[in-house]
Amino acid sequence: MKTENLQITAKAPTACSDVEIADFVALVLAGGEVTPHGLEGRVRSAERIAFLRGNGSLLGVAGLKHPSQKHRNEIAALSGVPLRSNEFPFELGWIFILPIARGRRLSLPLCSLLIEAAVTPGVFATARTENDGMHRTLSKLGLLPAGAAYKSPQGNHQLQAFLRHAAQPRGKPKGPGSRESKEQIKGAGVDLNSHGL
Ligand SMILES: CC(C)(COP(=O)(O)OP(=O)(O)OC[C@H]1O[C@@H](n2cnc3c(N)ncnc32)[C@H](O)[C@@H]1OP(=O)(O)O)[C@@H](O)C(=O)NCCC(=O)NCCS
Repeated sequence: MKTENLQITAKAPTACSDVEIADFVALVLAGGEVTPHGLEGRVRSAERIAFLRGNGSLLGVAGLKHPSQKHRNEIAALSGVPLRSNEFPFELGWIFILPIARGRRLSLPLCSLLIEAAVTPGVFATARTENDGMHRTLSKLGLLPAGAAYKSPQGNHQLQAFLRHAAQPRGKPKGPGSRESKEQIKGAGVDLNSHGL
């Protein structure tokens, strides 16, 4: 069986090269869930972005965003959950793993590197109501469902808001892809040793 070198890194966009930003944006666009217009600017102004690589190839991305007031107000109005910027300054999003790398419990370490780096625990996220896998990962990160499900302004599907309050304990990664079993945390990076995809 071929040995694969899996690595997760997270850094401020200002510390990323133009190629890294372009790769990040390309993978987010491949996910097909976001508005392309202005995406690169939003990525560049994010708090932190994370990269999952296998043998050097980009397999997945996630970001800790600074959501605009307009976006915050829209979700608040649709879900009925007030999203005050002082309570929830960050939004966890742009989470996308290529289909060939899915089902290996990599979404948790990918996102947890961002969550752990947040200067405040207050974070929100949204996910499709039927995205059970993502709901499991969010709950392990301490993000719990809040408010009513609502129709996405971007499509004909339902979304659910998730919140992690400042007072809420942080979720601990568990399972094969977890820190306890395989990760060796080195600063803002994680090396995961595993075997072929
Ligand atoms: C969402 C996404 C990042 C999750 O990554 P993944 O590799 O598929 O999922 P993981 O292997 O990390 O599994 C995460 C959890 O979901 C569970 N899971 C995975 N697929 C599932 C499914 N189809 N149904 C129910 N649970 C599922 C896993 O068992 C795991 O939970 P556990 O550790 O408690 O057992 C990935 O599927 C993806 O990129 N999807 C398209 C974009 C997207 O939906 N992004 C999220 C926007 S909020």
